[in-house]
Amino acid sequence: MNIILLGPPGAGKGTQAARLVERYGMRQLSTGDMLRAAVKAETPTGLRVKAIMEAGELVSDDVVSTLISEELVALPQTVGIIFDGYPRTAAQARQLDEILARHHRKLDRVVELEVDEDALVERITGRFTCAHCGAGYHDKFKLPKNALHEDEPLRCDHCGSTDFKRRPDDNEETVRTRMAEYRAKTAPILPLYEERGIVVRVDGMADIDIVTQQIERVLGL
Ligand code: AP5
Ligand code: MG
Ligand code: ZN
Repeated sequence: MNIILLGPPGAGKGTQAARLVERYGMRQLSTGDMLRAAVKAETPTGLRVKAIMEAGELVSDDVVSTLISEELVALPQTVGIIFDGYPRTAAQARQLDEILARHHRKLDRVVELEVDEDALVERITGRFTCAHCGAGYHDKFKLPKNALHEDEPLRCDHCGSTDFKRRPDDNEETVRTRMAEYRAKTAPILPLYEERGIVVRVDGMADIDIVTQQIERVLGL
C-alpha cells in the first residue's frame, strides 16, 4: 500500500508515519527529513535550501521530486510507502504520478489529518527530538518517561540519550509562514485526489493513539 499523509505543519504526519513504519514495516519518505539531512551534511542541495527552510518557504519542486525519485529506486516493490510532506504543490503531485508510474506503483490513499491551526503553533513550538535516534517528543504532550523524576536529566525512552534538539524553523514566526504556504499551495491539491476517490479524513486533534487507530481503520489495517 502506498499512501500520502497530508496536513499542515504540526498536524502529526511524522508522528503517525513513525507508527506505521514500526507496526507494518512500511517505509516513510519525508522530504523534510531528507532536506534536513542534506543541510546537516552540507551537500550542494543542502547549502541551497538552508535559508529557504529557515524562512518556512517551499523549496523548488524539482529538488524534492528528485530526492523522492532517488529513494524509490532502491526500494523493493513489496515495501509500502508513506509520503510525508510530499507532494506539496500541484506540480509535485504530477511529478509523483510520473515517478510512481515508472516504478509500477499506484497511490492507494491520501489520508488528510484535519486539525485546528491555532493549536498547531503550540504543538510545533513545544516539539523536540532525541539528537541521537531522532525519536520525537513534546514539552507538554509527550515528554520522555523519566520526566516524572524531576531531579534527573531528561532521557530518551528509546536509546537513553540525554541529548535533545529543536528545529531551527520551529519558532512562531516561521510556523505562520509554513502554514500560509500550506494553505496557498498544498491544500489546493486535495481536489485532485478527491476526484480519484482516494481521500480519507481523520481527526488530527484527537490524542496521538486515537489518531493512529483512526488511520488504521480508514486504511483497513
Ligand atoms: P517538513 O519537515 O515536512 O515540516 P512540516 O510540513 O512543516 O511538518 P512538521 O514536520 O512540522 O509537522 P508534522 O505534521 O510532521 O508533525 P509532528 O508529527 O512532528 O518540512 C520542513 C520544510 O522543508 C518546509 O517548510 C520546506 O521548506 C521544506 N520542504 C519539505 N518538503 C517539501 C516539499 N515537498 N516541497 C517543498 N519544500 C519542502 O508533530 C508535531 C508535534 O506535535 C510533535 O511534538 C508531536 O509530538 C506533537 N503531536 C503530534 N500529534 C499530536 C496529537 N494528536 N496530539 C498532541 N500532540 C501531537
Ligand atoms: Mg514532520
Ligand atoms: Zn533516542
